[in-house]
Amino acid sequence: MVFASLAGKTAVVTGAASGIGLAIAQLFARQGADVFLLDLSSSALDAALLQLSGGGHAIVCDVSDEAAVSRAFDEVCRGRRLDILVNNAGVSSVGAVHATSAAELDRLYAVNVKGVYLCLKAAVARMLQDGKGGAIVNLASIASLIGLADRFAYSMSKGAVLTMTYSVATDYVTKGIRCNCVCPGRVHTPFVDGFLKKHYPGEEAQMLAKLSAYQPIGRMGKPEEIAGLVLYLCSDEAAFVTGAAYPIDGGVTCRM
Ligand SMILES: NC(=O)c1ccc[n+]([C@@H]2O[C@H](COP(=O)([O-])OP(=O)(O)OC[C@H]3O[C@@H](n4cnc5c(N)ncnc54)[C@H](O)[C@@H]3O)[C@@H](O)[C@H]2O)c1
Repeated sequence: MVFASLAGKTAVVTGAASGIGLAIAQLFARQGADVFLLDLSSSALDAALLQLSGGGHAIVCDVSDEAAVSRAFDEVCRGRRLDILVNNAGVSSVGAVHATSAAELDRLYAVNVKGVYLCLKAAVARMLQDGKGGAIVNLASIASLIGLADRFAYSMSKGAVLTMTYSVATDYVTKGIRCNCVCPGRVHTPFVDGFLKKHYPGEEAQMLAKLSAYQPIGRMGKPEEIAGLVLYLCSDEAAFVTGAAYPIDGGVTCRM
């Protein structure tokens, strides 16, 4: 028997054209799932699909747009049931509260909170309809668990992801719908490279070393390492796991 096989299961991964979401989609496809990749740009999705061994489906969808989310889940569920949702799409923000504008708070809320809510709502409704349950994993962060410097809006949004996870896990536990979240420390993705290029031009290598040293383990995480944990949580092997938040952070939170 293959450990954590997803054969015969349909999965939606949001923000799947890049970074952690792409690694999750790739691993899910390798494990036999029928994977739907949701993201903002069709060209990025086409490039992502080329990197999936088992093939997959791409849907252009802004998760903060209710009508677009509804259309996307209708398309996924045409002729099949939805087994798995991974709420991965997310945006970052730098700044303490005094340096965070109301517009920036709204921007983070729209994607990281409302976007997660809209996909949860769409997925849970469809999972309830066919009565066979499902598995949901949300991408939270160590910012959900500890105080991170200079990340006011991001921390607001990832705290909400943690508590939405608890809420959904509680409300649907008797319906066979499991909901968990993962709380990564810094993971080396295009998100990090873009951040360094924007905020530290010319000093990227030094800053990369500094960001790596922040983790007691001495490096950043890899997208594939986060994908492995998400796979386990979405698999039948994790049938007893719900309402849990898993740090995956190279030892950051145990030092606190
Ligand atoms: N990289 C890290 O260090 C880290 C750490 C903890 C948590 N996370 C979380 O993991 C998730 C993925 O992060 P990543 O580093 O892979 O980021 P990334 O920027 O590499 O990928 C994010 C993807 O989400 C998509 N996206 C953004 N807004 C969207 C929207 N409105 N609708 C649909 N798609 C949208 C982007 O186009 C992109 O493809 C995020 O939720 C992030 O907060 C990342």
